[in-house]
Amino acid sequence: MAITPPSNRLWWNEPIAKMEIVWIIVAFCWGLVMFGMMIYWHAEGDQNLSNEAYRTTPAAYAEKANAMVEQYTVREESGYPVVHPPPGSDVYLIARLWQWWPIIEFEKDQSYRLHISSMDWLHGFSLQPVNINLQIHPGYDMVVTVTPNQAGEFGVVCNEFCGIGHHTMIGKVYVVE
Ligand code: CUA
Repeated sequence: MAITPPSNRLWWNEPIAKMEIVWIIVAFCWGLVMFGMMIYWHAEGDQNLSNEAYRTTPAAYAEKANAMVEQYTVREESGYPVVHPPPGSDVYLIARLWQWWPIIEFEKDQSYRLHISSMDWLHGFSLQPVNINLQIHPGYDMVVTVTPNQAGEFGVVCNEFCGIGHHTMIGKVYVVE
């Protein structure tokens, strides 16, 4: 670490050492490889979701979510409605301070259009323990086509810091046979 200025004040005019050039080229090429891998992993590794985003407003989105909850609620769990929408339908999940609402019940091996939007500010949808992540912005309807291939109970946590109740923002998704 230099605690005194370099002896040559115009050090930035010195030619770059050969080793440094080699490492810059190596790092640049590795960056290109990793860029290509993002596209490869999307297709081959089932990583990097093919999500779509549409403009909406919190009010318009909440209206759709409320209509779905009214129509497909099958039971309640600690004050949250549990919805069981028909396969192939549009399913609306609301992110807000500090909850994921409602609880959703999917059927295994069926496809759904899962919509997620925020009513207030930025939240992070993180499905556990499978580690599927999406940023949820207010004003945008994030849509993913999901086909659950595993039955069980999954947790949803928020992985974008959203204030004092961030750590309590926990939701649930059921996948039934
Ligand atoms: Cu929502 Cu953190």
